[in-house]
Amino acid sequence: MTVPYSPGLEGVVAAQTEISEVDGQGGRLIYRGGYLIEELFGKSFEEIAHLLYVGHLPSSTELAEFKGKLAARRSLNEQARAALAGLKRDVDPMDAMRTVVSAQGAGPGCPKPDLDQAISLTASGPTAVAAFYRHRQGLAPIEPRPDLGEAANFLYMLDGKEASPDRVRYLESYLVLLADHGLNASTFTARVTCSTGSDLTSSIVAAIGALKGPAHGGAATAAMDMLQEVPGPDAAEQFVIDRLNNHQRLMGFGHRVYRTYDPRARILRELAREGNPDFYAVAFKVEETALRELLARHPERPNATNVDYYSAGVLQAAGFPKDFFTCCFAVSRTVGWTAHVLEYTQKDGRIIRPASEWMGPDPANRPTSAAASA
Ligand code: ACO
Repeated sequence: MTVPYSPGLEGVVAAQTEISEVDGQGGRLIYRGGYLIEELFGKSFEEIAHLLYVGHLPSSTELAEFKGKLAARRSLNEQARAALAGLKRDVDPMDAMRTVVSAQGAGPGCPKPDLDQAISLTASGPTAVAAFYRHRQGLAPIEPRPDLGEAANFLYMLDGKEASPDRVRYLESYLVLLADHGLNASTFTARVTCSTGSDLTSSIVAAIGALKGPAHGGAATAAMDMLQEVPGPDAAEQFVIDRLNNHQRLMGFGHRVYRTYDPRARILRELAREGNPDFYAVAFKVEETALRELLARHPERPNATNVDYYSAGVLQAAGFPKDFFTCCFAVSRTVGWTAHVLEYTQKDGRIIRPASEWMGPDPANRPTSAAASA
C-alpha cells in the first residue's frame, strides 16, 4: 500500500500510543490513563513520571520508592564529567546537554532499553544541565541533594542554595506540563532511533537534537528574544503587525495539531502573571494582537498561543536564563521520550522506515554524459 506524500508528514498516523494524546480540535492534552492535563496540574514531577512509565499514579509507598530511585541516580559519572570539562564555555546549552547525556550513557554494545535506564536518564538530566550552567561561569558542579525533590534539587544545583517554594512551584508545574505531548518531532525521533534496535541513550540524544530547533523546543527562547524587542505594552500592537507584515513568525504561536489555545499555555499564563509581572505585561498585549492578526490572516487554520510562549515567563521566574529554556524542556520531556521508547520496544519494535517519492530522472531517459556536459 502506498500512501501519498504528505509534506511534514502532516496527518500521517505513524504511531499507536497510550503515553499521551493531543486533541487539537478540542484543545485537550490527555496523559496516560486518561487524565486531562488540568487534573494533573499540582502533582509532583515524580508522580507524573511514575504515571507515564508505569501507567498509574503512585500510591504513597510507590511514590516514596520511585523518588528514592530517582534521587539515587542523579550523579554524573566520570565520563560525563570529563565531557563537560572538555566543553568551551560559549557552546549552546543544548549542545552541552546532548554531549553530557551522551557521555553519561556511553558503554559497550547496544543494550535493550529498560525502565531502570529510563529512570537514570530522567534523574541525571538536571545534573547535566546544572553542571553546564556552572561550568559556563567557571564554577565546579554542585552535588545533587537526595533529600530534595526533582524540581527543588535542579534549582539547588544551579547555585547551591535552596530555592524559594514559589520558584520550585514554577519549575515543578512546568516539568509536569511538558512531560509528554503525543507524536511531536523529538518523540518521533526517539521512536525512529529505537526502532532500529538502538539503545535508550542514543534515542534520547537524537531527541535532544530534534528538540533544539526553534520550530520545536527552541521556541521559548525565541519567544523571549522576540518579547525583549518590544519596548513596552503600548508598543505591542504595532510590533506584532510590523513583524507579520515582514513575514516573520511570531514565536510561541501556531502548532501542527492544535487549532485552539494550548491547554498548557492557559495554565502557564496564570503562573507567568503571578511570578513574572513585567514579562506578563508585555506578553499579554502582544498575545492579544497576535491572536487577532493570526486569525485574520488564516481564519481556516487558527494559529493560537502554544506552550512555549508563557513557558518563557515561567522559566525566567523560576530563575533560568533564556538560553537554558530548551534544556528545561528536555529535562521534562526525557520522561516522555523514554516512556515512548519503552512502549515502542516492548509493544511494536518494527523498524520505522517510510518511503520517499523519487524526483530524479528515470535511468532509461537519463541524459548521456556527453549530452549532460554539452
Ligand atoms: N507566526 C506567523 N504565522 C504563522 C505562525 C506563527 N507563529 N505559525 C504558522 N503561521 C502561518 C504560516 O506562515 C503559514 O501561513 P502561509 O501559508 O500564509 O505562509 C500557516 O500559518 C501554516 O504554517 P506552517 O508552517 O505550514 O504550519 P506547520 O504546522 O508546518 O508549523 C509550527 C507549525 C512550526 C509550530 C509553526 O506554527 C511555527 O513556526 N510557529 C512558531 C514557532 C513555535 O512557536 N514553535 C513551537 C511549537 S510548539 C512545540 O514544538 C513545543
